[in-house]
Amino acid sequence: MSEMNQDLSAILFDENTIRNRIFDIGAQLSIEYKDKCPVLICILKGASLFLCDLMRAMTIPLEIDFMSISSYGSGTKSTGVVQIRKDIDTDIHGRHVIIVEDIVDSGLSLNYIIDYLKNHNPASIKTCVLLNKPEAHKIDVQVDYVGFDVGNEFAIGYGLDYAEKYRNLPFIGILKEEVYS
Ligand code: PRP
Repeated sequence: MSEMNQDLSAILFDENTIRNRIFDIGAQLSIEYKDKCPVLICILKGASLFLCDLMRAMTIPLEIDFMSISSYGSGTKSTGVVQIRKDIDTDIHGRHVIIVEDIVDSGLSLNYIIDYLKNHNPASIKTCVLLNKPEAHKIDVQVDYVGFDVGNEFAIGYGLDYAEKYRNLPFIGILKEEVYS
């Protein structure tokens, strides 16, 4: 057992549950994007594990790219203004884009990314998020494919971090409050 497990109050989704859900989403995307060669854009760092498993669950030709944005500080949280640290390399003009995110909390990051990528005139943009926190949304954000809806617990693991740690846990757990308070 990992020494990180002692920092968890519970396991939210174990490895099998995650694998099965991603297999289903991958199968659905493979049908809906047949002959469209979609570009999967992974939002670093949290969505890295999700991308790796999702793309392997897809059976159609596709391309991948990566984007990194800065977290907005608490002072700018309500505006959703973020900065792009790493832009995509792919020309997505006329392409079918699927944004791959680990979690939608307030929705401000994803909303910013959608608006930004729309300026490149893709043929379509959809979003695929592993965890969605509907109660935390601050805006009406476009969430098309969802792994799991979750409440307001502090989810970590499978790419999700607390202070950059826990991303390598192969499952998703809830961080004990005493660890972050
Ligand atoms: C997390 C997550 C989303 C965003 C969600 O990224 O990956 O991008 O926060 O929050 P929001 O819906 O309130 O905007 P983070 O900045 O922690 O970066 P990381 O993926 O590198 O951990």
